[in-house]
Order: sequence, then C-alpha cells, then structure tokens
Amino acid sequence: MTAQLGVGFLGAGPVTQAIHLPTLTTMDDRFRVAHVMDVDAALAATIAGRAGARASTDVATLLSDPAVDVVAVCSPHQFHADQVELAAKAGKTASAKSTAAKSAAKNGNSAKPTSAKRPQAQAKSKALAVAARKQAGKASSAARRKAN
Ligand SMILES: NC(=O)c1ccc[n+]([C@@H]2O[C@H](COP(=O)([O-])OP(=O)(O)OC[C@H]3O[C@@H](n4cnc5c(N)ncnc54)[C@H](O)[C@@H]3O)[C@@H](O)[C@H]2O)c1
Repeated sequence: MTAQLGVGFLGAGPVTQAIHLPTLTTMDDRFRVAHVMDVDAALAATIAGRAGARASTDVATLLSDPAVDVVAVCSPHQFHADQVELAAKAGKTASAKSTAAKSAAKNGNSAKPTSAKRPQAQAKSKALAVAARKQAGKASSAARRKAN
C-alpha cells in the first residue's frame, strides 16, 4: 500500500468544493485533505472544517505546512503561475490548470530556479518551464490553424 499524500488547496471556491473535495473523498486510501487556504478566512475555515483540515489565509502558511505534499492551485487563474512557482520552490508537487503554463510563458517564463541549494525545486521549476514552453507552442499553433 502506498502512503497517503496530504493535499493543500489554494482557493476554496466552487471548483474546490464541488469537484475536488468530493473526488478526493473517494480516494482516501491515497489522499487526505491536509490544508485549505483562501483569502476569505471564513470560507477557508468552513471548507477546511468539512474535511478536518487546517485553514489559513496566506500561501506561505500552506506551503510551510509539512502535512502538505501536493498543492492543488484552485485560485483565480491570474494567480496560478506564481503560486505553482512558489509551491515548486517550497519542494511541493503542484497541480493547476493550463492557464498557469500560458501565463508563465507570457510573463517571459517566471518559473526560474533561484537557489542552487534546492535541487528538487530546481528540477520542478525546470519541468514547469518546459511545460510552459510546450503549452505556449501548442496555443500559438492552434491560433495559426484557426487563422488559416
Ligand atoms: N468554475 C468553473 O466552472 C471552472 C471550470 C474549470 C476550471 N476552473 C478553474 O478552477 C479555478 C477555480 O475555479 P473557481 O470557480 O472555484 O474560482 P473562483 O474564482 O470562484 O474561486 C476561487 C477562490 O479563490 C479565492 N482566492 C482569491 N484570490 C486568491 C489567492 N490569491 N490565493 C488563493 N485563493 C484566492 C477566492 O476567495 C475564491 O474562494 C479557476 O482557475 C478556474 O479558472 C473553473
């Protein structure tokens, strides 16, 4: 049996509530909701309470929680690229929608490694950078096909 992974949510909106949390309850042999962060403190507390998880209102608190192995980025999409990058730098595995890759690429690839002391974060940041370039390439190919 594999160890259960702790999931931390950045954003506790409708997608977290209606899609991710119910799905994770069907996979509780593999995942447990460890931490729910939202800028709306009452919402974070309510949703975390439902899952028996810790609640907070800032990204750094969630990323410093050792119970969080995987970060589900469910905030509004404009925050995805930065939050995925922060999660990778904190040594966490992060999941977000493709808009993160597009915005990272658009921002001149913000997913840059910053410390030689963090090889794991560097590897993840590099993977994100590659994913961002691929995603941007696909988006521009699709746009060219549409234009022709
Ligand atoms: N709603 C949909 O049908 C749908 C479908 C597919 C994908 N998505 C994507 O899923 C993500 C979440 O969707 P949603 O409808 O729950 O979004 P939402 O915008 O309704 O809610 C996101 C939550 O994030 C919180 N938030 C705001 N700023 C934040 C920050 N800086 N850090 C953390 N949390 C913050 C908000 O308080 C809110 O509770 C979005 O990126 C959206 O594009 C949504």
